Parts: sequence; structure tokens; C-alpha cells
Amino acid sequence: MSTMQMPQQTGSPAAAGSVQDQVHNMIEELISSLPAPKSLTSDERRGIIARYTAVLEGNFIYWMTAALIAVKTEEAREELLENLHEEVKDAHPAMLRRFAIAAHAFPTDSDAMAINEDLTKVRVFLGRLSAVQSLVTMAFFEGFIQRFMGYLADLAKAEGSTEMEYTDVHGVCDIAHTEGLFRALSAENEVNPSEPGADLFEGVHLLSKLIQRVVHFHPELALA
Ligand SMILES: [Fe+2]
Repeated sequence: MSTMQMPQQTGSPAAAGSVQDQVHNMIEELISSLPAPKSLTSDERRGIIARYTAVLEGNFIYWMTAALIAVKTEEAREELLENLHEEVKDAHPAMLRRFAIAAHAFPTDSDAMAINEDLTKVRVFLGRLSAVQSLVTMAFFEGFIQRFMGYLADLAKAEGSTEMEYTDVHGVCDIAHTEGLFRALSAENEVNPSEPGADLFEGVHLLSKLIQRVVHFHPELALA
């Protein structure tokens, strides 16, 4: 996986398109690296659900809010606000908590500490409030979540759960959100591009490492 920098003509639609392609490819790479649920022990399946919950429940709205604070264009603001509105109104963190509890996978202190270091890196990165980089990161996150839902549901089913509202809702609505975030990225990039030489995918790489930590708890098994 190479580190890609933003093309020089940052404002062009073609540049935004190539970013979307890169993000799509990185998501597919992550998805194809997932171990088959049936090849895992019950404890390993529980751990993935628990670490995913430890990352998502308290951070998704926080990180979307960080992107909202960073952007300057009305298009990007509207997109992020619409997303946040749905998250809050439909209480997605409560939905996720129900999902984790039903799968007997509510995160313990050990689950939270297993992802602590990589989680902190993403928090600090988004705290820099770089609009375009934050939007790319959140588009990657939304896209990954949508593609991950079937797998997450399979883990929970294998653990005996039938509570699937969280995975059902996010397997559908995040398709529209991901598209919307790429439109917001294009608009923002026109008027508020990232610093020259900045790695557009810096946040994506950090988030990707965090997701790998969620899936592969043992450091020696994590992808490089
Ligand atoms: Fe959500």
C-alpha cells in the first residue's frame, strides 16, 4: 500500500475521482484481509465485535464533528450535519451498544486498551482540523463500515445473537453517506485544499491501522 500525495491540480474533479478510487481500493484490501468468521474461536469473534464497539461507539460522532469544525464550504457542512443529525436522532451509539451486548461482546477494559494507542493517533490527527484530509478519512470510514456490516453480522450470529438492527441500518444508509462525503470532499477541495505536499491519506492510513488492530488483536498478526 503506497502513500499517495494529492495531485498538483488539487481542485480538479479528476483528482477527486482518483482519490475516491484509491479509497475504494484500500477498503476492498481491508475487507479481503478479514479472517473467515468460522475459522475464528468464539473468543476471537467476541474480541472483534468488542474492539469495533470500543472504537465506534464513542468516537464516530466525535470524529464527524471534528470534520464539521474543520470544513469551510457550505456543501461539506450540510453533508456532515445531515450525517450527524441521523446519528444523533436515531441514537446510533445506543443501537451499536445493543448489538454488542446481544452478542455478549460489550467491550471490557482489556478490549479498550488493545486499541488505545492506534485510537489515540486517529484522535490527535483529526484534532489538527485539516478539512480535506479529515473528509477523506471519514469517507474511508463510512465506506469501510458499510462494507464491514455483513461480516460483523456474521460474527454476531456465530455468537448466537439475533439483534441485527445496527448492521442492517449501516449496511444501507452508509452507501449514501459515503457518496455524499466524496461530493463534500470535491467542494471543499475547490476552495480549501490541503497544505502543499500534505499526504492526503495520512488519516486513512492511521484509521486503517486502527481497524487492523480491531480485527487482528495480536500485534504479530496485524498487517504491516
Ligand atoms: Fe451510524
